[in-house]
Amino acid sequence: MLIKGPGSRGLCKRLDDLENIEVEAKVFPDGEIYVRLEGDVSGEDCVLIQSTYPNKHLIEMLFILDALNENGASSITAVVPYYSYSRQDKAFKEGGCVSSRAIAKTISLYADTFFSVDLHSKGILEFFDIPAENLSAMGLLAEHSLLHEPDLFLSPDEGGKERVKLAAESVGVPWDYLEKHRIDGSTVEIKPKNVDVEGKKVVILDDIISTGGTMMEAANQLFDRGAEEVHAGCTHGLFIGGSNKRLEQHFDSVFCTDTLECKNSEVTIAPLLKKTIF
Ligand code: R5P
Repeated sequence: MLIKGPGSRGLCKRLDDLENIEVEAKVFPDGEIYVRLEGDVSGEDCVLIQSTYPNKHLIEMLFILDALNENGASSITAVVPYYSYSRQDKAFKEGGCVSSRAIAKTISLYADTFFSVDLHSKGILEFFDIPAENLSAMGLLAEHSLLHEPDLFLSPDEGGKERVKLAAESVGVPWDYLEKHRIDGSTVEIKPKNVDVEGKKVVILDDIISTGGTMMEAANQLFDRGAEEVHAGCTHGLFIGGSNKRLEQHFDSVFCTDTLECKNSEVTIAPLLKKTIF
């Protein structure tokens, strides 16, 4: 039984052919959140799909899990396509909270199984007390990228190179990575690295585009070195402050999946979830 989380409405709609239950969600005048299951889940194996960005969807997820448990679901699978706080996977300063662990521990109290997609750090899986798995949308993004006849896939940093390798190898396109140094939350520096892009069509793939700073820096490097076309793709398009519009002015195309729904969600992960979970 698919439980259609309000944080993943577009994606859940693409899975509408499965037996499903809607969730009513509203916000009270004081900002508190209310959710209600609109069907009977008693004795059912339930699969909740709910991305947790922005914060209200995180709270909704916890409340829905509680409601599923309270209303007698036989088993609960929590699918969180975009797992927010995934970049907070360690205490960066003494006394700091490991936010992604706090969420994992809470999900583990209610759910029997957990899935996410292109988690920023696979180490997060270790925070769960239940079986937890990370799926990858890189194959789907790679297939979509073929529309642009790429000569090269690039990761904007070393941390993303395994993801890009997976994408590139799935469609037989060469790949490489750049070297990124983060200066602060919205400024990054990409160091020149000896990647030959002259006259090439390049697709840069990342897990997350947030402010767009990483992509913009990478694109500048590539255009400086004579790339013919540069495309930006990611799994999770947060596009803070309308950064997708800014990116569109520089890139030949900007695309993401529907783990978070926006106008650039050109790739759906529905087939991946169907194949793996249902
Ligand atoms: C960081 O390591 C991630 O993989 C992304 O590169 C990063 O979150 C993108 O953020 P922004 O778009 O703000 O540069």
